[in-house]
Amino acid sequence: MMKYGLRSCLPLTLLPLLACMACDGLGDGMDVLDVEVPAGYALSAGTSTNFISSSKAYDMPADWVSGQYDFRFNQGDGLYDDVRTSDNGVTGGLGPVYAGYSCGSCHRNAGRTKPTLWSEGGSGSYGFSSMLVYISRKNGAFFQDYGRVLHDQAIYGVKPEGKLKVEYTYQTFEFPDGEKYELCKPTYTITDWYAAEYKPEELFCTVRIPLRHVGMGQMMALDPKEIEALAAKSNYPEYGISGRCNYITERGVLSLGLSGNKAQHADLTVELGFSSDMGVTNSRYPEEICEGQLQVNQGSMMGLSYDQLDVSTEEMEDVDLYMQSLGVPARRNVNDPQVIKGEQKFYEAKCHLCHVTTLHTRPRGSVLLNGTRLPWLGNQTIHPYSDFLLHDMGSEIMGVGLNDNYVSGLARGNEWRTTPLWGIGLQEIVNGHTYFLHDGRARNLVEAIMWHGGEGEASKNLFKNMSKEDRDALIAFLNSL
Ligand code: HEC
Ligand code: HEC
Repeated sequence: MMKYGLRSCLPLTLLPLLACMACDGLGDGMDVLDVEVPAGYALSAGTSTNFISSSKAYDMPADWVSGQYDFRFNQGDGLYDDVRTSDNGVTGGLGPVYAGYSCGSCHRNAGRTKPTLWSEGGSGSYGFSSMLVYISRKNGAFFQDYGRVLHDQAIYGVKPEGKLKVEYTYQTFEFPDGEKYELCKPTYTITDWYAAEYKPEELFCTVRIPLRHVGMGQMMALDPKEIEALAAKSNYPEYGISGRCNYITERGVLSLGLSGNKAQHADLTVELGFSSDMGVTNSRYPEEICEGQLQVNQGSMMGLSYDQLDVSTEEMEDVDLYMQSLGVPARRNVNDPQVIKGEQKFYEAKCHLCHVTTLHTRPRGSVLLNGTRLPWLGNQTIHPYSDFLLHDMGSEIMGVGLNDNYVSGLARGNEWRTTPLWGIGLQEIVNGHTYFLHDGRARNLVEAIMWHGGEGEASKNLFKNMSKEDRDALIAFLNSL
């Protein structure tokens, strides 16, 4: 770990690699920022760091997983990946309507399954989409006959609730040095409604592609006080940045939101994932997601049984354990001069003011759904490249920006949680695609950055105004994460 102040103009002869950073574009009257720059090879997640860079990089247990934990990890992994079917006797139950047929169908290799948005223009004619489609009335209320998630799949004999269709409007922009880039603005419509149809002007519809499972245990072991302190401090008026916390009440307890694209959940949503994403009933959500739909009552008449829980609390804790015990891939190519330069550019462009490089986990580690404690996750210095806070990401780019008009807890339509960037450079190897941002509208890392508006505008412009060589270096750095 090297520690230095950005404006402190280090002895350049001693640190030639930092020379350009100390002198370029920083003389703008800002306060000295005392930032910790992880020295490349620093372990991404302390003792949970693994050194795998294959398609299994997100999906391997941390080294400390052994004995009974090893057994439970494998149980959890199985439950997570096993293809479920509607027969709830043997294969655990699914549907009647659903969005995915296992956790792993959407989070393949504990990552982001390639969504069908681009290849099929939406939900696709068959198979699944790996996306979650949230719908609500313009006033934020849910549609009674659909609920919060539009389930675009269904078991045999039942109709999916509807299908998502996406169309893109393309616009070409130019970097000051003449290089072109293109952004695509998605417009979503819903077709094939199973019952009452709602017109586009009656509803908000927002789409999410899955999130990578890199560092779930570390995220759950974060000290809320450290995140709240960041929110109190993360105020950089010179760059228009001020993150804030989301809070949600779950099981009667008000907690800091950490997971999800709007930090709208306090835990790893195992119970909700089983219920809402797959139609798998459990102790927390014992009712079928589409309870009350006429077609489901017909389903019961077809001999399907809905009166038994599809997954037990113990099983769900194993899934929680599986996710929290996953190793976090170490960085790669840390000695490559282009990557080293790109790391400096990352700080110069102020990316680190939101994509915070270093955080710490609380001493006691994390606690799973049923109370099992994972002390190994405690007292670790980690490099998630996120502050886990909400930021206004703007509404101006192509007339909409990243605003999806969808409120989640305290998060407004234009607010998003800073996506942790650890492991991002392996997404292509793990999942075979480079779609980024909450709805996969960015087809590569450059587009992902160029969609940053609002609080991200100044940072985006610092990147935009760099030379091509420097932009390429910054991207090479992201790919080393
Ligand atoms: C239909 C596809 C789909 C299925 C099935 C699915 N997920 Fe997800 N998952 C998503 C999407 C999309 C998000 C992002 C949701 C959001 O931010 O609103 C997500 C987010 C998450 C997150 C938050 C990650 C983070 O970085 O904050 C966790 C944890 C998670 N899912 C676990 C699960 C588990 C466990 C299951 C199975 C019980 C599951 N998911 C099933 C699509 C899916
Ligand atoms: C104001 C806070 C802020 C700043 C500054 C910022 N980001 Fe982000 N970044 C975010 C948020 C919030 C998201 C999630 C947006 C979404 O999904 O719609 C995000 C998403 C991303 C993603 C997509 C991640 C994924 O897996 O989908 C990348 C890549 C990224 N940022 C890189 C950068 C880089 C590089 C910089 C500096 C040039 C930067 N960001 C500056 C807040 C910020």
